[in-house]
Amino acid sequence: MGSVLPQSASSAQSAAKKVEANSVRLPFREGAGERVAPGIISPMRRFISQRVDAVPPSGIRKYFDIAATMPDVISLGIGEPDFVTPHPILAAGVRSLEAGKTGYTSNSGLLELRQSISRYLERLYGVGYDPETEILATVGVSEALYLTLTAILDPGDEVIVPQPCFVAYTAEVQFAGGVPVPLGTRVDNDFQVTAADIEAKVTQRTKAILIGYPCNPTGAVISREHLAEIVAVAVKHDLLLISDEIYARLVYSGFQHVCIASLPGAHERSVLLGGFSKSHAMTGWRLGYVAAPAELLAAMRKVHQYTIMSAPTPAQWAGIEALEHGDEHVEAMVAEYDRRRRLIVGGLNQLGLDCFEPKGAFYAFPSVAKSGMNEVEFADTILSEEQVAVVPGSAFGEGGDGYVRLSYATAYEKLEKALERFARFMRRHG
Ligand SMILES: Cc1ncc(COP(=O)(O)O)c(C=O)c1O
Repeated sequence: MGSVLPQSASSAQSAAKKVEANSVRLPFREGAGERVAPGIISPMRRFISQRVDAVPPSGIRKYFDIAATMPDVISLGIGEPDFVTPHPILAAGVRSLEAGKTGYTSNSGLLELRQSISRYLERLYGVGYDPETEILATVGVSEALYLTLTAILDPGDEVIVPQPCFVAYTAEVQFAGGVPVPLGTRVDNDFQVTAADIEAKVTQRTKAILIGYPCNPTGAVISREHLAEIVAVAVKHDLLLISDEIYARLVYSGFQHVCIASLPGAHERSVLLGGFSKSHAMTGWRLGYVAAPAELLAAMRKVHQYTIMSAPTPAQWAGIEALEHGDEHVEAMVAEYDRRRRLIVGGLNQLGLDCFEPKGAFYAFPSVAKSGMNEVEFADTILSEEQVAVVPGSAFGEGGDGYVRLSYATAYEKLEKALERFARFMRRHG
């Protein structure tokens, strides 16, 4: 036993020497070695694909990581409901486990769940999908997006991505071998993308348009008229419409969400991504779905079959309860988000941090021009001086410069406190 320590220590030393030797001598692909210190090159980077290496880490993580180490911080950074999953939904998941339903489900997901999704989409948005062939249960909208892009993109295919948008859109297009084509939206158009702007970006390689309304990070919604014009451009240029409608239930001020697939000419060229994470406070259950024409869905199912097998079983049972009996819980959460929305938007505007009225999701997207700082300076300074975490708008792509994103999926009292800190901050910097 006495020899174990010295032996392992010496083998660790020799392993370290080997790594060091490898670090400088291995024949790296051009540009594939990362210098971590003068003369030392990271030995692992040569194994990482250029496709993945080219994608920068998410610009929002940094603020969560710093905030997590600070005492008395108010984080408005994270886009996650602060509510626990409503109890009847949670109980349905628990019951399924206690009944021993702990195995895989069919690759497409429980037929009962797909039937619920089909009824739900018909009831809320008037769109019809066949539960047998046109709906697939996924590990969140995240997986649904991955499946869609993997199923449709060949190397070099372009996807038009209106921005600012959810950080995963551009990265996932790149992971799937495609080329994201960013398209900035503007506050003077209520952050709604226009058909004319989309059409100006169409090339021979354009395969799809990826939109997400209600929008993370702006809180913008999109009107039926704008959507119809976008459908017309898609029809004219034979493009696929990918619509992330994860925030469809979280709308305010009397706005009615329009599902893109309900518009004439859209159903047969749309992929609808839907979820439970935001509407039913189910982020950790990892459940979502994709609805699309059967042939396209079969291609996605193939990718899902080989990578995931099936979405989590207890989550699927909970999902049925959410869709069949969850409306009153959704409405209660929406009412509370709305109360917070009015507090935060009103408060920011009073401080001169101009904030357009977000009619969807749970984000406010104020301009920080009044502070004289750019969005990164603003986010860094308010975090260090006032311990409030927000995310710079530029982390969400084109059109985000000069703005920050605040999530109001945070307790009302915390938002009041955050506004006091914003006010103190603006007295110094306004
Ligand atoms: C617009 C948007 N789409 C998709 C997701 C991912 O959702 P899920 O938890 O269903 O994977 C998020 C999460 O923040 C989001 O904001």
